[in-house]
Amino acid sequence: MTAIAVLTSGGDAPGMNAAIRAVTKVAASHGVPTWGVEKGYDGLIDGDFRPLIRRNKAGEPAPLREIEAEGGEGGTILGSSRSKRFYDRAARAVAAQQLEDYSITGVIVIGGNGSMAGIHALTEETDVPIVGIPASIDNDIGLTREALGVDSALNTIVEACDNISDTARSHHRAFIVEVMGRQSGYLAMAAAVATAADAVLMPERPHTRDEVIDSVVKCIETSFGAARDKTRVLIIKAEGVPVPTHEIVEEATKRIGLDSSDYDIRGTVLGHVVRGGDASFRDRLLAGRFGRVAVEAVLDGYGDVMTGWNIGVELGRPTTDDWIRLFDIEDVLAETESLLDGTSSVSQDRVARMEAIQGVLAL
Ligand code: F6P
Repeated sequence: MTAIAVLTSGGDAPGMNAAIRAVTKVAASHGVPTWGVEKGYDGLIDGDFRPLIRRNKAGEPAPLREIEAEGGEGGTILGSSRSKRFYDRAARAVAAQQLEDYSITGVIVIGGNGSMAGIHALTEETDVPIVGIPASIDNDIGLTREALGVDSALNTIVEACDNISDTARSHHRAFIVEVMGRQSGYLAMAAAVATAADAVLMPERPHTRDEVIDSVVKCIETSFGAARDKTRVLIIKAEGVPVPTHEIVEEATKRIGLDSSDYDIRGTVLGHVVRGGDASFRDRLLAGRFGRVAVEAVLDGYGDVMTGWNIGVELGRPTTDDWIRLFDIEDVLAETESLLDGTSSVSQDRVARMEAIQGVLAL
């Protein structure tokens, strides 16, 4: 008897529920039942499993009504964790034993780069194929152009920046808006283009504290100056830039000497607001396509791989979906590392693109 287990791990991301829904439905269409594992890798260690299917009137496996109803919602119905225990080999051996006890023949892990590392480690303890589906608003997972949650988070950021811009224009203000992303500036860069921000501060282009403040002061003074005569200044700052937003606001306010000017500066940290909310169309679509490929992979016995939305790359294995390939987790982890240390051509292209349009951003 074949059975699949699915879990969500790491920071939640919109689209995780849509991926759980897709996995459960696609598996059911193959006549395979799915177990949900509660609270990520912690639940795998503790054997915290619950069935995600019911029997329909014809006696065939069908997703629980909850899976259908909540498929578009943010968060994860299975709960998540950043499991510290999973770093321990003995704990992973217990998790492998749970898979055997529940007669699980394939596992699908929906999560970020830490979760992908977890797949690679668990693969050493079990023969059960484990496939990853990338999900993290940070977009810092190698070999997928986009992870689940990124598009929804960007829509939330754009809406927030539009709202803030209304206030900014009405009061002649500069706003520094900080967005999440851990060490990745992707959300900040993409949102800056989409909101026609005046500047972006991102960790991929490291600056000292003084340089950061200097560039903010220069951007605000030029934008509000006679030549540009703007009513709003919007600067998007990535969380990974190691100068706190309030400090930039205070210091820039001091340097500009706002008593003698007719505008002022405010800061807003969007924080976890960006991680919640219903999944966008694109995240739901990606979740459905990743889910299908992941189920087909585990049923074919492929493991230690991640689904990636990518074309034109040499690495990886083609799948039944032209846009989705299966990448060895080892390659995913190596590319993730270079994305974060800036040596990847993907991060270099992103920075080059931002630099190329920097002049336009400021206009
Ligand atoms: O990885 C997603 C993320 O939201 C990051 O952008 C952020 O740095 C981090 O998680 C916050 O983690 P926590 O929710 O544990 O505070």
